Amino acid sequence: MNFHTRKWVKPEDLNPNGTLFGGSLLRWIDEEAAIYAICQLDNKRVVTKFISEINFVSSARQGDVIELGMTATHFGRTSITLRCEVRSKITRESILTIEKMVFVNMGEDGKPVPHGRERIRYAEEAYEHYRQSAQSADSVDETAKH
Ligand SMILES: CC(C)(COP(=O)(O)OP(=O)(O)OC[C@H]1O[C@@H](n2cnc3c(N)ncnc32)[C@H](O)[C@@H]1OP(=O)(O)O)[C@@H](O)C(=O)NCCC(=O)NCCS
Repeated sequence: MNFHTRKWVKPEDLNPNGTLFGGSLLRWIDEEAAIYAICQLDNKRVVTKFISEINFVSSARQGDVIELGMTATHFGRTSITLRCEVRSKITRESILTIEKMVFVNMGEDGKPVPHGRERIRYAEEAYEHYRQSAQSADSVDETAKH
């Protein structure tokens, strides 16, 4: 599981109990998971379809630094399923787990469309893919000029 994003718990993120408000945490997770799905499926049009039980394992407090971890557990035809964990950056104590978050790959017509992916793609591989796409787009532009 990759823990890409870190968050600093600030006063505006607290509940009346003085600990991290679940709604703030869920907002951060939904965004982080959507970015993960976008990168894996190479499509900005992904939507959250399903979130399984959310286990708030322990509290975070003001000033704590937490990190959000994601991994893909299943590639479907039009969907991708992620597992999520949030933990303390310093103590590594688990703060939240979600076993299943499902995102659906959408087409321009607003309907689910197959994504064609079958396994996790890591950053280096994704960069190489973008580099090659950019190169072939440049060569198409050059051809059009002649
Ligand atoms: C996403 C949406 C288009 C899917 O519609 P749908 O009629 O369920 O579409 P499909 O039946 O083709 O299913 C699409 C994929 O979602 C999966 N799926 C559907 N319901 C699911 C559920 N309850 N749990 C897990 N996966 C589910 C399907 O298995 C399919 O995946 P696959 O192609 O990899 O097998 C529709 O439900 C929608 O627009 N929902 C609102 C999304 C949204 O606005 N999200 C933001 C909420 S804040």
